[in-house]
Amino acid sequence: MIGIIGGSGLYDLPGLTDTRWVDCDTPWGPPSDQVFLGRLGDAELAFLPRHGRGHRVPPSELNYRANIAALKSLGVSDVLSLSAVGSLREDLPPGCFVVVDQFIDRTFAREKSFFGTGLVAHVAMASPVCARLGEHIGRALEAQQLPHRRGGTYLVMEGPQFSTLAESRLYRAWNCDVIGMTNMPEAKLAREAELCYASVAMVTDFDCWHPTHDDVTVDAVIRVLLGNAAHAQQLVARVSDALAHDAHAPGCACRRALDHALITAPAV
Ligand code: ADE
Repeated sequence: MIGIIGGSGLYDLPGLTDTRWVDCDTPWGPPSDQVFLGRLGDAELAFLPRHGRGHRVPPSELNYRANIAALKSLGVSDVLSLSAVGSLREDLPPGCFVVVDQFIDRTFAREKSFFGTGLVAHVAMASPVCARLGEHIGRALEAQQLPHRRGGTYLVMEGPQFSTLAESRLYRAWNCDVIGMTNMPEAKLAREAELCYASVAMVTDFDCWHPTHDDVTVDAVIRVLLGNAAHAQQLVARVSDALAHDAHAPGCACRRALDHALITAPAV
């Protein structure tokens, strides 16, 4: 099953059949909302609006563990994460899609692991997204002729306030490409849950560093997102179809992330 985590502006997925919203409780509490199950062509989908329908939960208060655990418990194996981001580069203007392949995690007020005292694990995060999933996304963006870039570093900030000018300039100096508030610890937890995970960042603004563009506002973010919602939905349909027919999925290393990660001695 394919899991879709929809970010700001993407609160439902039209066009699915056999649909229902289901409750999911997890050992880490409830996810952001019910999960919308349905079928799109040959693909079984589980859609979770990251902030809940109506955008009720801010980035720092999302129960990232419950969101990932809920998808896992429903049988999801591949997670396609969609999010609105600010651009840190002139050549990534609003309306552009970025297939993220790296992160810098600057968040500090979130639960980041399913493991802890009693059972300690350290999963590899050098390559934080699934290359196979990223390839499908890149091909879909090309087929749709959407402005996009394959590969990019996403700076994850705590928020909820947007960055100061000095911070925005710092992240540019670090060669980050886009900035947002939600992909961490989501990507780390997906890895711990042995899920394939990839992220599509939809650029909505130039944050606050650009000399000739206005500083980011929520209104500007929403305006660009609404203009892009149909593209995002078509992207989900195309990627889902590709994944439903992907014979390489079972061999993906993401699905064995815990093979060499547990360090706690087995109980005797
Ligand atoms: N989401 C959309 N635009 C953003 C920005 N400039 N900073 C952080 N998160 C964002």
